[in-house]
Amino acid sequence: MASEQANEVKRSVKALKDHWKNGAPRNMRSAFAEDPKRFSRYSLELDDLLLDWSKCLVNDDTMALLADVARAAKVEERRDAMFAGKPINNTEGRAVLHVALRNRSDKPIKVDGEDVMPGVKDVLDRMGAFAEGLRSGAIKGSKGKPITDIVNIGIGGSDLGPAMATLALSPYHDGPRAHFVSNVDGAHIADTLAKLDPATTLIIVASKTFTTIETMTNAKAARKWIADALGEEAVGQHFAAVSTALDKVDAFGIPADRIFGFWDWVGGRYSIWSAIGLPLMIAIGPENFGRFLDGAHAMDEHFRKTPLKKNLPIMLGLVGYWHRAISGYMSRAVIPYDQRLARLPAYLQQLDMESNGKGVTIDGKPVAGPTGPVVWGEPGTNGQHAFFQLLHQGTDTIPVEFIVAATGHEPNLDNQHEMLMANCLAQSEALMKGRTLEEAAAQLAAKNLSKSEVKRLAPHRVFTGNRPSITIIHDKLDPYTLGRLIALYEHRVFVEAQIFGINAFDQWGVELGKELATELLPVVSGAETAKDKDASTQGLVAHLRKRRGK
Ligand code: F6P
Repeated sequence: MASEQANEVKRSVKALKDHWKNGAPRNMRSAFAEDPKRFSRYSLELDDLLLDWSKCLVNDDTMALLADVARAAKVEERRDAMFAGKPINNTEGRAVLHVALRNRSDKPIKVDGEDVMPGVKDVLDRMGAFAEGLRSGAIKGSKGKPITDIVNIGIGGSDLGPAMATLALSPYHDGPRAHFVSNVDGAHIADTLAKLDPATTLIIVASKTFTTIETMTNAKAARKWIADALGEEAVGQHFAAVSTALDKVDAFGIPADRIFGFWDWVGGRYSIWSAIGLPLMIAIGPENFGRFLDGAHAMDEHFRKTPLKKNLPIMLGLVGYWHRAISGYMSRAVIPYDQRLARLPAYLQQLDMESNGKGVTIDGKPVAGPTGPVVWGEPGTNGQHAFFQLLHQGTDTIPVEFIVAATGHEPNLDNQHEMLMANCLAQSEALMKGRTLEEAAAQLAAKNLSKSEVKRLAPHRVFTGNRPSITIIHDKLDPYTLGRLIALYEHRVFVEAQIFGINAFDQWGVELGKELATELLPVVSGAETAKDKDASTQGLVAHLRKRRGK
């Protein structure tokens, strides 16, 4: 970042910090009471998609100052650089072009002067033909039986995206059953394969690098499972692979027509739109997969073309930045009121925390303030009966992001979607309004409790309120709305990264643990000594070995 720009960012962040201390609304209840237009002022719509941040401690000055920070950080210029295929992932020298994977226009997108779109379309067509072949039964297993089950073996971005989206879109699932194995814990693959018949199962090995230890280990176990049951010669007919490392896949023995490539300009956590989405496409069909891409493309176009103050990902990013860096809230909860979005919080954890969990700027200098928050969550209404107690009465403020559909897929189930929506809105209302001591006391008194009992119990029933939340509403969760929602979050993470001044597209922080695990494998297995390790690690190794009789 040029020093002039860095100073400009510093100045605008300082203005925002001053405003947080003196100028930002202190009380949401009164902010709503004073401004009947607060909802329309702090919400945006894109077709059926609504983003509401009116229940956050912001006013017009906050939004103007946040816009200044975005301008100072050159968010729009950086966005344009991303869409133009510039190598914005500077530590790996790569372009960042997941948007090309869902570019549904005829516009070329170039990397180093070469249009990537023909390659993208070619892989998509090959995936479509393969998926249709499996879905129709034309592509069979080695015993001539149709494939009834697919097992995706991958981890991180090669697992979370397809696993999350396949569950989310289960009403559209009319292809073979999809299973996902990620953990190196042998329990995961053992439990998954135990339910399946090798003769009707296809294994998809999904790994960008084709070196990830968990994936390679599980792939070997699955290969053995197929070979033991059907013979070595059956392996080719029961495997497919998705990777950027085509030479490595070839060495694994997977036939070329079952290898689906992608490119180094697609980050793992941004790869659901690439061939990594193959299990999803097999499950819901190429047409629905296309609608999923359409939804993401619609968000890309909105992000690319809409002025800052009307731009949903930019606003979501700015409010996220406000909460994390200025208000100092360490985490954010994402609560989809949608059972089928049960894996969305895990997906967003990788997207957000692997992207923005960084401690140095894009130039390698220590960052000046906090970067990405802890992201966590569970579907509502389940979370209400688990951790919402802390959200309402705990000592930390945790901004919540509620996501709910206006319509469900089960219209015949008596009132259940209405109950879901009512619960979602009730939680954001409760977080905002809270309940004062006087209100709590009045409620208890109305139940005819004695004065002393009212005095004793009322403090336990106080809710401080004033706790921020964002609400996102979309129409029925279908491939289009899901694609658009995921792209909204991707761009939000991008916006926040630009303001933090970090590179959102590398993940060096996962490397050290991988290196040490490789070193420790012979140690825990007893082949090597732990003498070079710290005392704690030595003690743990000794205990494990003793318990294992080694
Ligand atoms: O460990 C981090 C990571 O590199 C993620 O970024 C990635 O999504 C995951 O591992 C899996 O990597 P691969 O697709 O290369 O197996």
